[in-house]
Amino acid sequence: MRAYVEKAFLDNNIERISNKYGLEIVDMAPTSKYYFTYDKNGLSFIKDSQNPKEVLNVNFLKGKLGWRLKRTNHESNLKKALGKSKEPLYIFDATAGLLSDSMIFVSLGHKVYAVEQSRIIYLLVKDGIRRAEATIPSLNNLKLINANSINAYKEADTSFDVIYLDPMYPILKKNIKKSGEISAVGSILEIENLIDDQDFLIKSFMNESFKKLILKRPLKSKKIYSNINYQVKGSTTRFDIYI
Ligand SMILES: C[S@@+](CC[C@H](N)C(=O)[O-])C[C@H]1O[C@@H](n2cnc3c(N)ncnc32)[C@H](O)[C@@H]1O
Repeated sequence: MRAYVEKAFLDNNIERISNKYGLEIVDMAPTSKYYFTYDKNGLSFIKDSQNPKEVLNVNFLKGKLGWRLKRTNHESNLKKALGKSKEPLYIFDATAGLLSDSMIFVSLGHKVYAVEQSRIIYLLVKDGIRRAEATIPSLNNLKLINANSINAYKEADTSFDVIYLDPMYPILKKNIKKSGEISAVGSILEIENLIDDQDFLIKSFMNESFKKLILKRPLKSKKIYSNINYQVKGSTTRFDIYI
């Protein structure tokens, strides 16, 4: 895959990324397919070279997530889903995505092991972490890996307090415009040929041993398993909690 980098922005970071992940650095914006760009905003992804203004970039310091991270006392539903604990929890985030939920978890004082299957999303998020690390010290409590979380969970030699699952919701036509970032994630998964089989994902984790599993679902979706211990409901989403 290509990374479009103007000479002024070439640095050790993008050279290291391109060597490690086989990105070809080019100094002209590609006119076909999709590509990464690297500039003053760090690493970004353009999913359609014909529409280069539609850029996906992860910034934990600004925007909606930056706002939420400064006000974690507002996260009452996520807090209720996690439950009260004297000690910080060790959370396995099996669907890291753009890392919003995990960022809230570490900001609440917990430790997180986050797993994302998409190499493109992983690189964008990793670069977002690099740019935010100095400002958000709780990022020290986060480990992000690029893998399939079903395998990563089996291979981890640690015991986690919580498994957190936030599979992709089916994207309804009427929501496409609203959910810019989510539809970008969907397009990236298509580009990488990653099948997003939520039933398989949920079933696989249900068959593992765990202390607590939190499944984020659209508010009105059917219960998948009948043995839900409790639910925390928000205005559009709910957390189904299995113990
Ligand atoms: C709805 S998004 C998660 C959003 C995330 N909770 C956030 O706050 O940004 C779902 C993500 O889970 C990832 N995913 C789905 N199945 C996976 C698996 N088996 N292993 C790792 N990641 C997976 C997808 O690639 C996608 O990025």
